[in-house]
Amino acid sequence: MSLLVRGASRIVTPKGTTARRGPELGAVRTVDDAVVRCDGATIAFVGTAAEHDRRFAPADRELDAAGGCVVPGFVDPHSHPVWAGSREAEFNRRLAGESYMEIARSGGGINATVAATRTASFDELLDGTIHRLDTFLVHGTTTLEAKSGYGLDLQTEIRMLEVIAAAQRSHPVDLHPTCLAAHEVPPEHQDDPERWVDRLIDEIHPSIARRGLAEAVDVFCEQGVFDLDQTRRLLADADSLGWRIHLHADELTPLGGAELAVELEALSADHLICVTDAGIEALASSDTIAVLLPGTSFFLRTDFAPARRLIEAGCAVALATDCNPGSSPTESMPAILALATLDMGLTVEEALTAATLNSAAALGRASEIGSVEVGKRADLLVLNEPTHYHLVYHYGVNPVRHVVKNGEVVVRDGRRLGG
Ligand code: NIG
Ligand code: FE
Repeated sequence: MSLLVRGASRIVTPKGTTARRGPELGAVRTVDDAVVRCDGATIAFVGTAAEHDRRFAPADRELDAAGGCVVPGFVDPHSHPVWAGSREAEFNRRLAGESYMEIARSGGGINATVAATRTASFDELLDGTIHRLDTFLVHGTTTLEAKSGYGLDLQTEIRMLEVIAAAQRSHPVDLHPTCLAAHEVPPEHQDDPERWVDRLIDEIHPSIARRGLAEAVDVFCEQGVFDLDQTRRLLADADSLGWRIHLHADELTPLGGAELAVELEALSADHLICVTDAGIEALASSDTIAVLLPGTSFFLRTDFAPARRLIEAGCAVALATDCNPGSSPTESMPAILALATLDMGLTVEEALTAATLNSAAALGRASEIGSVEVGKRADLLVLNEPTHYHLVYHYGVNPVRHVVKNGEVVVRDGRRLGG
């Protein structure tokens, strides 16, 4: 089946099959009065309507962009979308002045969600996850990294990853599952965290890898959670387990997580609010993508990652939601773009590239997705308004009108079809 997206005011897209750095981050391609033709799940043509009609037979179906702007589907390379319960009481405590770590150390935080998730059934977790995936999709996310990490025991970590696998079978958003069993020390190991690290290495990571439930591994490398040495041990056998590495690095304290991510040839080092000069230098001369999560800074009222310094040093910068119940409860990449521009100093074009092509690179998929170009997968958005600026300028509402995933219209006029 073919689909012609007609009547767009313009297409705005990054170019290429690798992450963009430095001045290239904002160098997007713009085509006015454009059409996009999708043949099956692949983009077959991007250009003017006149040229399309000369070169191609009419498509099987058409989608009227009605003067909206076309951009690539968002790729969100860092999320925690499977959980039970809610932590809005912590939000109130933070408004009253307590910090994220103080709350975590007094019975809240990740372990509060772990308690709720352990008692939730598979179906409850699946329903909640599908509901969130629908929200991701109507806000324009067509590919999503999805972490476990609210089980912290073998059985519940497996359940979370099986929920992600089941969601993938019934939902159009492409999911990239990551094992984050090393998200926290669970309550039953508070007295002997080293024993928990040993169990992760000897028992939990290998059993999850054997089941083929994850394609990557992540660790919350942070003061009071897993230090650099523990993180290095936890990730030492990633290669032999067949896993790529993402790392929660330098989020709340400057531990040297960025340097460790580079040393381990991680796909991405994420957060980086407290990244050091040495960390920036290491990232700049590596292929590890610097995934920035401004929603977490906004929501925890911390500093923002030094995005401009990272970009100017030559690091490949990407953007993600970090969607989770504690530090960033949002599925909206447009909200993240607004924060990236207004609070981290990216241009709209830089933010668009960081949320599409560069975030595809953070999942190892920049050759297939992340731009509206011939040969790439037909994942694209039609916005409500004629320019990409409205992605951030018209903030606090959903700017996405239609979503095309694998050449199929899955959201029309802001509503999920066939869900
Ligand atoms: O990325 N930093 C660790 N993990 C999450 C928070 C998870 C939670 O609070 O539930 C994050 O910010
Ligand atoms: Fe996270």
